[in-house]
Formats: sequence, C-alpha cells, structure tokens
Amino acid sequence: MCGIVGYVGRRELAQDVILDGLRRLEYRGYDSAGIAVLEDGKLRVVRAIGKLRNLESSLRDLPVHGAAGIGHTRWATHGQPSEENAHPHRAGSVAIIHNGIVENYRKLRDGLRERGSEFSSDTDTEIIAHLIDEQRRAGCSLVEAVRNATGQLEGSYAIVVLDETEPGELVAAKDGGSPCIVSANEEAGFVASDIPAILPHTRRMVPLEDGDVARVAPDTLEIWDRAGARIERQPRDIKWDPVQAERGGYDRFMQKEIYEQPRAISDTIGTRALEDEGDIDLDGIEFDPDWVRRLKGVHLVGMGTARHACLIGATMIEQHARVPAIADLSSEYRYRDPVVDSDYLVIPVSQSGETTDTLQALREAAGRGALSLGIVNAPDSSIARDVDHVLYTHAGLEIGVASTKCFTAQIAALDLVALKLGLLRGTLTREQVRAAIIELRRVPRLVEQTLGLWDEIGEIASRYVHAGNFLFLGRGVGCTVALEGALKLKEISYIHAEGYAAGEMKHGPIALIDENMPVVVVANRSNTYSKVLANAAEVRARQGVVIAIAEQGDEEIDSVANEVIRVPAISDPLSSIVMSIPLQIFAYHIATLKGTDVDQPRNLAKSVTVE
Ligand code: M6R
Repeated sequence: MCGIVGYVGRRELAQDVILDGLRRLEYRGYDSAGIAVLEDGKLRVVRAIGKLRNLESSLRDLPVHGAAGIGHTRWATHGQPSEENAHPHRAGSVAIIHNGIVENYRKLRDGLRERGSEFSSDTDTEIIAHLIDEQRRAGCSLVEAVRNATGQLEGSYAIVVLDETEPGELVAAKDGGSPCIVSANEEAGFVASDIPAILPHTRRMVPLEDGDVARVAPDTLEIWDRAGARIERQPRDIKWDPVQAERGGYDRFMQKEIYEQPRAISDTIGTRALEDEGDIDLDGIEFDPDWVRRLKGVHLVGMGTARHACLIGATMIEQHARVPAIADLSSEYRYRDPVVDSDYLVIPVSQSGETTDTLQALREAAGRGALSLGIVNAPDSSIARDVDHVLYTHAGLEIGVASTKCFTAQIAALDLVALKLGLLRGTLTREQVRAAIIELRRVPRLVEQTLGLWDEIGEIASRYVHAGNFLFLGRGVGCTVALEGALKLKEISYIHAEGYAAGEMKHGPIALIDENMPVVVVANRSNTYSKVLANAAEVRARQGVVIAIAEQGDEEIDSVANEVIRVPAISDPLSSIVMSIPLQIFAYHIATLKGTDVDQPRNLAKSVTVE
C-alpha cells in the first residue's frame, strides 16, 4: 500500500523529482515518509513520521543534492509508524524502499542475526536490505544481489535499491502482485509504484511482471525474468494527463472527483453503447455465444466500494441476462473453495487494479478455469494484465481515498456488460437493449442535476454533524446505496455508520432507534417502495430522525421524513448511481464540517496491496 519512487538522472534533481512523485502518491499511505539520495558519493537518508509535509519541512532546512535517489511514503504493516520504521532502510552500502509484506521475515531475521546482522527497525523491509548487503559483500553485482536476496522472500514486494558503490543505477524487483513501473529516457531512469508519480517526466512506462528484476539508468532499461533470462517487456504509452492529478480549483480531490462524475460515466459509456444497432461493443471483446448461453454463473469480486458496485452489477446481470450472479468480497471468495469452473465468468472490479484480495480471488477463479473480465480503472495495473479481457472505466485518476467517480463509472460499465450478456443469451432483444441504452445515456445528465444540490445537502448535513451514529436503510439496489452511503460517511468523517437492508431493521437494528439516531432512508420508487415507506414510518414512530433520499415528484415521502433530498427519477438499477450522489455529498459536508482529512482519512490507503 506504500508509495515508492526512484530517480537516477544526469542532473542533480533527485530530491525534487522524488518529492513531487511522493506528493502524487501520498494517497497510498501517510504514516511516514523518507528519502535516500547519493550526495557526494555517500548515501544520505532523511525520514519523518507522519505526512509528507513533515519530510518536506526537514528537507527545506537541509536539502539533499544528488542525481540518484529513492523515496517512500508508508502505510505501516510491520512495526508502528515511527521514524525508525520509516523507509528507506539501510544495510552497508545499500538503501532500499519496499511496498508489500515479507511473510517469512522472522525466519530470515533470525538467520541474519545469527550471521551477525544488527537491526535498527521492526520492519520486514530492513531484512531485505541486509540480505542484499550480504550478497554484495559476497561479491555479487547489484542485480545478482537483488535476485539472490529476493529469491529468499515469501510474500509480496516491489523494491527499489540504491547502492553507494553503484551510483549510476537503481535496481528494482517485484513479486506477489505489488505493482512496480520502470521507465528510462535519455535524461533519467525512473521507478514507481504508480503511474502518477512519474507522469510529469515520462509517458512511456514498463510495468514489471512478478519475478522480474530491472536495472534502470539514463538511457538504460534492462529486465530479467524469474529464471534470470534477459527479456524485453513491452512499454505502454500512458494517455493520462498530469493535470488530472491536480485539484483544479476544488478544495479537495474528493470534491473534484464527485463533480467529475458526469464525465466519468459518459466516458465509460463512450462509443460502447450502440443505440442505433441496439448493441453493445465491449471494446471488441468477443465472447463465444455458445459459452455465454451455457453459462452457469457470474461471480463478481471486489472490496469496499468496488464490492458495492459488484452487488449492483450482480443485480443487473441477473435482471438482463437471467443467469445466477453473486457479488462476493474478494477476501472471502478466495478462501471459501468457490464452486466455479470453465462455465463461469468471473468479474473482478477494482479502481486501482492492485487490490491484493481481488487479484488473488481472480487467480483462484481463473485457476479453476473461469473466464475473466476485469472492470478496472488504472491502466496496465496487475488485475488489468491478469484478466482474459479488460473493460476499463474511463474515470481518470482518482486520488481521494474515498472512491466516488470510480464507483458510479463501475456501475455504468457493469450495465454494459449485463446488456451484452443479455443480448448474447437471447434474454434481451435489440429493441430492449436500445431502450436500455437510452436510459443509461440519461444518467450523466441526471447526475449533473443532482450535483446542483451541493449547498442544500450542506445545510442538511450541518444539522447532523454532531450525531455519533447513523443508520442507512434501503431495499434492492437502494440497500446497496445505503451500504455505500454508510461506508462513505464512516471512512471520511469517522462517525459510526451502518448500512442495512430496510427489511432487516425489525430483526435487530430497530433497538438502536431513538431521537439521537439519524436514519438515512434510500427511497427509490421500485417495487419495494411502499415497504421502504413503512420502514421509515417505523423509525419515526420511535422518535428516530429520517433523512430521505427520494425522487423528484415524490410527495408521499414527506409524511415519514424529517428531511427530504430529491433527485431526478430514473428506473432501477440505474437509480443506484443517481441516489448515491447525495450520500457522497452528505458525507463530504459532514467530514469537512468536522475538519477531518477528507482526501487522506486516518488509517486508510488508496490501494490495499496487503491482505
Ligand atoms: O482499488 P479498489 O477499487 O480495488 O479498492 C477497493 C477498496 O479498497 C476501496 O473501494 C475502498 O473501500 C475505498 N476506500 C472506498 O471509498
């Protein structure tokens, strides 16, 4: 989950390039940050606990000058957040940064101790530094030393190594799903965990594969695979605009990303929805129609918000394609011995494309023969490269740790998949697909209109900012909207919030209701609308406070709600997109009123690359 950046160039730009890269990666973790630069032939390491600004302020007083360096922003796994545990870690002539977890680190540390190594941190990373140093002292080249050392590791890692006896190069290695991108041009070589870190300097990047070791220098990019063979990996041209990584006039990235949703959704639909033909073109992906007709099931896997998109996607697939579809937490799926074979489609859904649980769930299903179709936002990420087919959400960079535009873009993408499957299975006619496309194309405009409620929702939020708990209720896709609304609120405002199926309320949660319990009720006018209304009335009867998300023109809701936020009406399951918007805005306002760090909430990281 940590962010890593490396630079080795012809000019003494290491500090600037690395700090700029870390700024773009801070969403990956912000427990501590550090940098190591070769200054006058010697390694200088500067580290600081907490956010990157603490490191920046240390460097302001005492800058480091050099043409080669590595930098890291940490999300703590082994060892609490502290300066000693901050990366880079040193051993002998070597400094190293690491993203991932070394699972056999205790055994390795004991062995190193017996052989005389002394440790100054509680991290698994320092062990890697010592293993490499040991190999260096045995006479190995830096590349050989990294290969021999990493060969002893179990778990996942992406590492970058700087050695003061090899000032003109960096060596990187990766395995177990931790992402690592390398690049080189005439001026410099770069390494990073994520594209945005080095996007201002290069758009041509090579994602390393598991088991790869790379040597990076100006004009030099050499890669060896797990077997030690020199290989060429295809560079990718990245089309993202570096400006996307700036806040563009908004107070926070999350606010910007909420506002970007109409564009994110319409770009995701793009030219894939062929209204005239009543057809869907999933970027040319061809499914064997016989296989689609004999499909036994579709398994959608994701975590957090992506899992919520999976829940909506499962509803869409069952509705349109009449094939059993389940939406599972990737972390549960991979360990529960799922019933899946070559007559199943597995759909991993992920913004980052790096979530370890989802990557492993995908591999579990693919290993049993399932065909895979990834719904992924980050180009060339691990999941995007592992799947048989990928359908990108074109939401652009999402920096705010709380996912917003990627969630609604994922739902739009899943709708396209569901419609395509429906066509291929013969459960939808072209006429029905045409009508569904017209409905889907309305969504960006309705989201735009809903964004106009920003201030109104802000006023409502100001009346509830002191609440200690919230319940979110809904039925059908409204239940998933409730789950997502509760997740958004808790992760950025730190208020305890639970999402429930409204029908479940009387089976327990109703005991919590009193005048201090605001209950957000998602009241889309589906076949269960009257039941939702009854549930809201039950809350009111127990002095609970009801904040309803309802459709424009819905007057009935007034009798059971203290507050009503009205959004434009659209049929299910697409109502899930429009009804989610006010809940994102509500959470945002509550959090900013409370003064929490909206873009980088405590304890969280944007992409979770450990289990
Ligand atoms: O990158 P992914 O979409 O795979 O990430 C999945 C979750 O970690 C993510 O959605 C998380 O729940 C967000 N913080 C929610 O806002």
